[in-house]
Amino acid sequence: MKGVILAGGSGTRLHPLTRITNKHLLPIYDRPMVTYAIEALVKAGITEMMVVTGGTHAGEFLRLLGNGHEYGIDRLFYAYQERPGGIAEALGLAERFVDGDPVVVMLADNIVERSLAPAAANFADQDKGARILLSPIEEASHLRHLGVPELDDDGRVVKIIEKPEDPPSNFGVTGIYFYDATVFDIIPTLEPSGRGELEITDVNNWFVSQKTMQYDVLEGFWGDAGESIEAYYEVNDFVRSHGANKD
Ligand code: G1P
Repeated sequence: MKGVILAGGSGTRLHPLTRITNKHLLPIYDRPMVTYAIEALVKAGITEMMVVTGGTHAGEFLRLLGNGHEYGIDRLFYAYQERPGGIAEALGLAERFVDGDPVVVMLADNIVERSLAPAAANFADQDKGARILLSPIEEASHLRHLGVPELDDDGRVVKIIEKPEDPPSNFGVTGIYFYDATVFDIIPTLEPSGRGELEITDVNNWFVSQKTMQYDVLEGFWGDAGESIEAYYEVNDFVRSHGANKD
């Protein structure tokens, strides 16, 4: 399985911090944010990875990560997104790198407490389609900033609603996604959303419509450090006192 780390975007929710650097280079406790996503994938057994970034600070990723060997990556590739066109557009840039293999995609502002290895093993056992990771979240005010799945009585995903006014369940869709190679056939068919981006939720809803979407509920803490300045500090506080990417 290959790994794609998405580290682009303009990070407007963290302005003015993100006027001077890329969001994913901001510190989480004692190191840059992006290194947590890399560590999460390496610990799940991924050794070939592409980092997709963009904007004026893209060169700093090369300085930080180099050839990736220090981080346990065997082969590290980079792609440059010309404009913030959304998560699905950024993933599209990795098509030739992924080259028909199964892929795990992780947003570089997502931080997890526990290992992704069990979910990767579950996806390896799945014969086709996609797999998302859900995190239990009680507060509707928080869910309104995320993708939220609607589940049927058997617990199957019926659809995912992006940033719902009225959240249909108490789960957030995390920014960790497993796909088979068909994902690259879907991306060119997408239309930009209201925020002018190609949405990963539209990609995921295609797999839902094909009945090939499965999920795991993530154990332990999950945070999206790019969601707001409050979320950024909440993630920092958690990692400082409890650590991240534990087995
Ligand atoms: C993105 C996805 C959303 C998901 C979130 C997780 O939101 O669109 O479905 O819940 O990442 O981090 P964004 O950060 O682009 O607002």
